[in-house]
Amino acid sequence: MGNVLNKHRVLIVDDQTSNIRVLGETLKGLYDIQFARSGKEALEMVEENQPDLILLDIMMPGIDGYEVCRRLKEMGNALDIPIIFITAKDDACDETRGFQLGAVDYITKPFNPDIVKARVKTHVELKRHRDHLNDIVKERTSQLIHSDRLATLGTISAAVAHEIKNPLFFISANAELLHQYVTTGNARKSLEKITKIMDGTRRIGRLIDYLKGYSHNKEGEKLIYRVSDVVSDSLDLMGYRLKQSRSVIKCQPISPDLMIRCDLQKMSQVLVNLMGNALDALGDSEGVVDIVVEREEPSVLIRVRDNGPGIEQEQAECIFEPFITSKSKEHGTGLGLFIARHLVEEHGGRISITKNDRAGAEFTVQLPEEKK
Ligand SMILES: Nc1ncnc2c1ncn2[C@@H]1O[C@H](COP(=O)(O)OP(=O)(O)OP(=O)(O)O)[C@@H](O)[C@H]1O
Ligand SMILES: [Mg+2]
Repeated sequence: MGNVLNKHRVLIVDDQTSNIRVLGETLKGLYDIQFARSGKEALEMVEENQPDLILLDIMMPGIDGYEVCRRLKEMGNALDIPIIFITAKDDACDETRGFQLGAVDYITKPFNPDIVKARVKTHVELKRHRDHLNDIVKERTSQLIHSDRLATLGTISAAVAHEIKNPLFFISANAELLHQYVTTGNARKSLEKITKIMDGTRRIGRLIDYLKGYSHNKEGEKLIYRVSDVVSDSLDLMGYRLKQSRSVIKCQPISPDLMIRCDLQKMSQVLVNLMGNALDALGDSEGVVDIVVEREEPSVLIRVRDNGPGIEQEQAECIFEPFITSKSKEHGTGLGLFIARHLVEEHGGRISITKNDRAGAEFTVQLPEEKK
């Protein structure tokens, strides 16, 4: 255990050298110890390099311990560092205030070195376990997303193969004509055919890009897009499904000045799943899926609404959990909405069911609006 503990860094913040010395002596050899003699110095040190635990004195000139704690909790990446207040104050009110600010423990001076050691050890280990759990959750989530992409890849590849056949046919027909026009010396017609061939190859290229995007587990770049472009990209992807369905998707006009910052592929994946779910719910009926985009400062709302049968209340409550599905194995993994929620949250947004009754369901994706 000693080796593992040695790797953990403890930051002692106190304005009095004598206190630093006593605490340092107590923890010597057990941790990698750093010192700060003021709140300001402590904040700078944490910003640069995060310790695994902070022992924080309350009464200090300048920025006091409470304020250091408050500011640390505001610094996103320092949020998880356990803070133990260590102080001569022994008033219950001060203790309460310390806990309210997010401290994990409170030790009063004069302290018993064995108690300090025990409490520091407890909180360092708790943090280690928490970090470990977080790592596992992160890893599993990314594995799930990857496997969902592969599953999606399987289902869309049949559709894509079909989609590639059309432009391929179009290209070869135009190439034959081009051959004729070149031999007869008709330059204008030849150019026309060349343009068509280029259109066809671009379309195939685009389809292949989608496949590549789905099969890689890579972090895509987040760029600024018009919401209308994101929606129309996902509608393009729905083309094949729509041909096979008796339902229609209607998109209300979207204001061209509405922008979001997103990874286009991921956001399309979210919308495609919502539209696909709506079409599934509509089954063989001649239903309607409405796409409505609204501004609700400071957010953009993208609503996908259908006039299907709605969702059972019991199912609706856990619908964003993984593997919740009413579809057969070939038709649904039950990961769609789970992944969708993950992707939306990765974009700083939220996804929720905003209407649900026998007249249909509505899902709303809320994303931060990107101002010009
Ligand atoms: N618009 C909707 N109307 C009715 N039920 C819905 C609607 N959207 C989702 N559901 C229900 O929620 C379940 C979970 O949806 P989710 O997208 O997570 O998985 P799935 O569609 O079953 O599988 P996959 O997305 O992998 O194809 C669906 O099986 C369906 O029962
Ligand atoms: Mg789905």
